[in-house]
Amino acid sequence: MANVVIIGAQWGDEGKGKVVDIYTEHAQQVVRYQGGNNAGHTLVVGDQTIVLHLIPSGILHPGKRCVIGNGVVLDPKIFLGEIENLKKKGYIKDDQQLLVDSNLHVIMPWHKAIDLAREKDTSRKIGTTGRGIGPAYEDKIGRRGIRMSDLTKPQVFRRKLKEVLPEKNFLLEKFFGEAPLDEEQIFTEYSGYAQQIAKYIGCCSTTLNKAIQAGDNLLFEGAQGTLLDIDHGTYPYVTSSSTCIGGVSTGTGVAPRHITGVVGITKAYCTRVGEGPFPSELHDEMGERLRKAGNEFGSTTGRPRRCGWFDAVAIREAVRLNGLTGLAVTKLDVLNELDAIKVCTAYSYKGQMLEEFPRDADILQECTPVYEEFEGWRSDICEARTMADLPAAAKAYLAKLEELSGCPAVLISVGPRRDQTIQVSNPFS
Ligand code: GDP
Ligand code: IMO
Ligand code: MG
Repeated sequence: MANVVIIGAQWGDEGKGKVVDIYTEHAQQVVRYQGGNNAGHTLVVGDQTIVLHLIPSGILHPGKRCVIGNGVVLDPKIFLGEIENLKKKGYIKDDQQLLVDSNLHVIMPWHKAIDLAREKDTSRKIGTTGRGIGPAYEDKIGRRGIRMSDLTKPQVFRRKLKEVLPEKNFLLEKFFGEAPLDEEQIFTEYSGYAQQIAKYIGCCSTTLNKAIQAGDNLLFEGAQGTLLDIDHGTYPYVTSSSTCIGGVSTGTGVAPRHITGVVGITKAYCTRVGEGPFPSELHDEMGERLRKAGNEFGSTTGRPRRCGWFDAVAIREAVRLNGLTGLAVTKLDVLNELDAIKVCTAYSYKGQMLEEFPRDADILQECTPVYEEFEGWRSDICEARTMADLPAAAKAYLAKLEELSGCPAVLISVGPRRDQTIQVSNPFS
């Protein structure tokens, strides 16, 4: 038995989708445990590119069950659209391949409306994806959320709508000056979604624990990244869920003792979308060069991603917080043309050297990076399939990343395609 978690080790978009797609070979169940359609996970297979927002990235493999756990917040319209898209492309031949937990919270129209209205205040904006994620989690914690099981019971759904909507409309109209939402329209629309989703609804915890007993391997797919975690990230510039390892158990009902490996995904450099501190960000031509070479535009919103050098201080934080057992280093090929590559090894803060990631975003904002410089390899590594295929300078760079992070590399990605991968060791063995 091996149950492996994939977690973003930076600010998201590290290439989790690609790595999950590859590791699905070793697992029978692939599970999303937090976040919602703020995620955009890209899979490139042959000449086909598929971006998934809610459905786990194992879905292209027939016979592998994809589970959406209780910790996820689900927008039913987006979910159904994603299924339709995949079915059109010839995937999900059997509806049993999907399972949606009955306890997960549903993203309702007021969540999106409030998220967008809040973001209009430029002085307080987080740079969210505008998908209603924060407001949906607020209602979950506030005990006034609508769960998937509520949606399938017309009387319960109607009662909850009547309880919640007046308060939301008051906020939308009186505070934000936005149009109110119509109860009848929401009731009809969302009851319709519930009917279509009913066949996928089940219990994530029971299903996964039975699978463990039967000897299945599980693959957990994190969304966002460690530094966007609601508790451990660069608050308030974070998402509203537990992106770190703790989210796996609360978001699925699988106990921590079943987890056998935790792989942190990191780019060979660093990116961030939205507001918030990013010490190794490059505001110069080099940042532009990385954005172009790495095609760094958001998979969900299309926004340009902020780009910078690899930050070893931040990665050490991810290693500690998640107990990472391995690193998957992606997008190494993006550095192909560079003469020199920098790595941030520490921060300078008011004349002091910091080797650890400050817990306060205001302090992080004032930190300047301390860099070590490495020689580039100035050659195309996209065809490398083993470590031996890599030029000496690329191997030296990877060895330095391992040393600085204190974690071994288990996978190296040298291009977006499934086959453009070096598997150093198997976290399932
Ligand atoms: P995720 O959210 O962590 O799944 O990552 P995204 O899909 O949002 O962003 C990663 C982007 O990088 C996608 O466009 C991938 O196709 C692409 N990608 C993944 N690995 C590599 C790689 O090794 N090299 C290059 N050039 N692109 C990659
Ligand atoms: P994947 O899974 C990168 C960022 C947003 C914003 C902050 C809060 O593809 O790696 P939210 O909409 O969640 O309330 O936005 O979090 N963010 C992501 N950044 N990748 C993601 O997902 C993200 N999901 C949210 O840009 O800064
Ligand atoms: Mg993404």
